[in-house]
Amino acid sequence: MAIPVPEKRILDFEEMGFGMFIHWGLYSQLGKGEWVQHIHGIPKEEYVKLQDTFTASKFDGRKIAQIAKKGGAKYITLTTRHHEGFSLYDTKGLNTYDAPHSPAGRDLIRDFVDGCNAEGIVPFFYHTTLDWWHPEFNGDFKVYLQYLRDSVEILCSEYGKIGGLWFDGNWSKKDADWEEDALYAVIRKHQPEAIIVNNTGLSARGEAGNLQLDSVTFEQGRPEPMNREGMRKYFAAEMCHTMNAHWGHGAKDFNYKSLPHLIETLCSCRKVGANYLLNVGPDAEGEITTMQAALMEGIGDWIRSVGQSIYKAKPCGVVGTGKNFALRDGKKMYFYIHDLSVTGDNNVTVEGGAAGEKSFTGVKGTIKNLHWVDNDEALNFRQDENSFVMNATGYPYGTSLVVRVAEADIED
Ligand code: GLC
Repeated sequence: MAIPVPEKRILDFEEMGFGMFIHWGLYSQLGKGEWVQHIHGIPKEEYVKLQDTFTASKFDGRKIAQIAKKGGAKYITLTTRHHEGFSLYDTKGLNTYDAPHSPAGRDLIRDFVDGCNAEGIVPFFYHTTLDWWHPEFNGDFKVYLQYLRDSVEILCSEYGKIGGLWFDGNWSKKDADWEEDALYAVIRKHQPEAIIVNNTGLSARGEAGNLQLDSVTFEQGRPEPMNREGMRKYFAAEMCHTMNAHWGHGAKDFNYKSLPHLIETLCSCRKVGANYLLNVGPDAEGEITTMQAALMEGIGDWIRSVGQSIYKAKPCGVVGTGKNFALRDGKKMYFYIHDLSVTGDNNVTVEGGAAGEKSFTGVKGTIKNLHWVDNDEALNFRQDENSFVMNATGYPYGTSLVVRVAEADIED
């Protein structure tokens, strides 16, 4: 069965490869995650008071875009409104539960978009569909859905060209008619090139839905390879992931993933052609914490060390052993080698090895040459009909890249 041909904007989205997710809202002031209102059972009358102390005094779109850029992210997806129902944008009179009516006194999405545009980062808008604040969410649902469309129309018409919309919450009313066609039509009217995503949540990872959608979602884990044969449309894939255990700011959540873990997760996404959307949760005032900024920067340093192949290169049917894999971009092939150790002197480096032969099957074409991207060292290899075997050397003393990339010229 045929694999559908991707539309250009979907290919462009895939080639951005890595994005930074941001969960930020009134809840960030409590530092207990974005579900705090619901899970801790805070009454609505109490919760809404958080609007009166929301200053956003350190929210700086430009600075945020710079952190993403340093991290090698090409786009940012920001929660313009999360399940709490509070909007970071000016709702233009739909209600006053928005940032301009808080002590912040400004449209924070404007600031965000301007910052992204200044840094060449593509802005995406996360928007909730589940709403704990709107009176009609559990009342006259059609009235609520019109409100949702009016809200989205503001986002699609007030901020210039945006990368896309990322919806979340349809899983909360599984059997309801969300009038998805009407919602997506609003987007297509103003932003024909926008990527539209609707998160299927933890219970339905990777599931394709409405044909106006452009990407499937995976949440918190390794994305599965997509089988696109016979699909009615080519969907991209994206995997969103927290750095610690919450999406929104967790003042006492120290459960951070390590930098090697994040680098390997980025690789595991690109291995199957999925984008990696890595989350940060700014603090009460809107600042990305030092720890989160540092982890972003570490990923960026890694990308700069191993070249740019994580963006454009794609899965090509090559299978490696263990976590090793290969991607292809035109006449270049890239081998991603895991678990190498530092070489040097037995008195200082801990052997554990794993340097040596790494084999791959499914290489279509002839490999002409091979070298590490990080230091240009040429590598020995051999190839026969069934396999390609490279001799991977360990890290020269002074480096340890977690995943090392070897580049080859390949001829069909
Ligand atoms: C879940 C959560 C939500 C979070 C989202 C991110 O659906 O409900 O809080 O925004 O995952 O993918």
